[in-house]
Amino acid sequence: MNRATRKTVIAGNWKMNMTPSQTTALINEMKTTLPAEPACDVVLCVPFVDIAAAKAAAEGSVIKVGAENVHFEAKGAYTGEISAEMLVECGVEYVIVGHSERRQYFGETDETVNKRLLAGVNAGLTVILCVGEMLDERQKDITAEVVALQTKVALQGVDAEMLKKVIIAYEPVWAIGTGLTATDDQAEEVCALIRDVLAAKYGRDVAETVTIQYGGSMNAGNAQSLLSKTNVDGGLIGGASLKAADFAKIVEASNQD
Ligand code: 13P
Repeated sequence: MNRATRKTVIAGNWKMNMTPSQTTALINEMKTTLPAEPACDVVLCVPFVDIAAAKAAAEGSVIKVGAENVHFEAKGAYTGEISAEMLVECGVEYVIVGHSERRQYFGETDETVNKRLLAGVNAGLTVILCVGEMLDERQKDITAEVVALQTKVALQGVDAEMLKKVIIAYEPVWAIGTGLTATDDQAEEVCALIRDVLAAKYGRDVAETVTIQYGGSMNAGNAQSLLSKTNVDGGLIGGASLKAADFAKIVEASNQD
């Protein structure tokens, strides 16, 4: 990470875990384990039904609350969907779009990811845009092309001012929930490549200000070395964000220089 030009952000993605009462209990526990003054922003992206409980429990703490998805239309006949305005009114500040699980299981495409990102940014949310290659794409040596394409399409219609509300999470699909982590150098290589894509579109100075996280089996043991890489500005944490002690250790790992 490079704290001189950009924020370090450690975000949890709870996925489809935790009921509202479990949310209250876990956040109360985190308040006792997290450092009082972390060197990074700390975010928990939780299921929609847990947002109210998360906001209440996180009050007065360093924890900011995010959602895991947002619909691109403002309102209307979209059964089961949630709009950006709804999230904002619930006090949500961050939202994940384009997670690989949405792409794999729910038909998300680069185009719908772009529309969701625009809806989130236009509503004032900070959007965590997920990109990342599948295992067979890495084996075919097309990681750079896949990640560049995902990034470019997702950022269509996003100008430099809007980009201030975008975080990019590089999440190699083969590393998610598998216990397999990208090596520090693999994570750095792709995060740097994403920054090059940003530099080509927005200029190097702007690209240097964007927070680019790594996600995929990041844990208390490997966070520090991943975060020591220049272009790895934080983490998007799945499993380890469901354990107060582990999540606190990852946040502490960002306290290094
Ligand atoms: P794990 O940390 O469980 O591998 O999940 C990563 C992830 O998908 C975060 O969005």
